[in-house]
Amino acid sequence: MIGITGATGQLGKLVVEHLISKVGKDNIVALVRTPQKAVELGVTTREFNYDKQEEMVKQLKGIDRLLLISANEIGQRVRQHRNVINAAKKAEIKWLVYTSLLHAEITTINLAGEHIETEKLLKASGIDYTILRNGWYTENYTSSIEGALAGGAYIGSAGSGKIASAARTDYAEAAAVVLSDDSYKGKVFELAGDNAYTLSDLAVEISKQTGKYIPYRNLLETEYSKILENLNIPKDLSAAIASWDISASKGDLFDDSKQLSSLIGRPTTSLDESVKLALR
Ligand SMILES: NC(=O)c1ccc[n+]([C@@H]2O[C@H](COP(=O)([O-])OP(=O)(O)OC[C@H]3O[C@@H](n4cnc5c(N)ncnc54)[C@H](OP(=O)(O)O)[C@@H]3O)[C@@H](O)[C@H]2O)c1
Repeated sequence: MIGITGATGQLGKLVVEHLISKVGKDNIVALVRTPQKAVELGVTTREFNYDKQEEMVKQLKGIDRLLLISANEIGQRVRQHRNVINAAKKAEIKWLVYTSLLHAEITTINLAGEHIETEKLLKASGIDYTILRNGWYTENYTSSIEGALAGGAYIGSAGSGKIASAARTDYAEAAAVVLSDDSYKGKVFELAGDNAYTLSDLAVEISKQTGKYIPYRNLLETEYSKILENLNIPKDLSAAIASWDISASKGDLFDDSKQLSSLIGRPTTSLDESVKLALR
């Protein structure tokens, strides 16, 4: 039996979909914090909250493979992931797959610390593990297309940094492939898109598909952060988003190892396809 945490999230839902087609719905348990959000998943669901360790031990009964999708509360994640790993140990989980961050050991992206700590906890746990170091979702950028069209420019601070992002569905399929084949035990994957692009390339693609000229405007980190704040994004998150673009400008979102397309057996979703989907 395979357990998927965060199954009500954007990535988790797609993992469940891909996994159903591989192992059938009867072999999957969605472990979710908010059961009312899980009714459409089409698999058994159990309530599962990273903050409730003892309850998690019970909810893991009968599960031998577990996908821990990293939590989304920045700053709380080491504690929460530790809770899950401890619960998995007590529940005698045989194999734990964790979604980490691309090049976690060397990236300047400020999210890396929590992922590295989690990887260390996992390695020390004695449980067999696989680490999926996911790169950026293309959706992180295509979700700003609407704003770019309204504002007449695509803005950011990534300069000419090359971004090898992939669609969520690509990472989700990779997780499903790994979870259904235990020969992937013990491996650490660096997962990213096949074709890297700059934010200028993205702006060109948006212009091409919409017939509206949308230039890329590169901003100072502080300027970009301020604009995000003015769009009602909380101050800390605005600063973090701008800092991630600075990391992108240094090449931290680039990878050309093609491990993702090799795992899923097809090219990753192209930039033009992702833009097309976002404009639908
Ligand atoms: N690679 C990237 O570009 C990128 C971008 C953003 C995030 N991420 C990371 O990748 C993860 C998955 O991405 P996503 O887009 O699917 O994020 P998401 O849509 O925000 O989903 C996060 C999932 O985690 C669950 N969760 C959060 N706190 C929990 C807790 N205390 N106990 C149990 N479940 C909890 C949420 O449950 P509810 O449905 O109950 O809220 C949700 O199902 C994120 O959580 C984050 O760590 C990566």
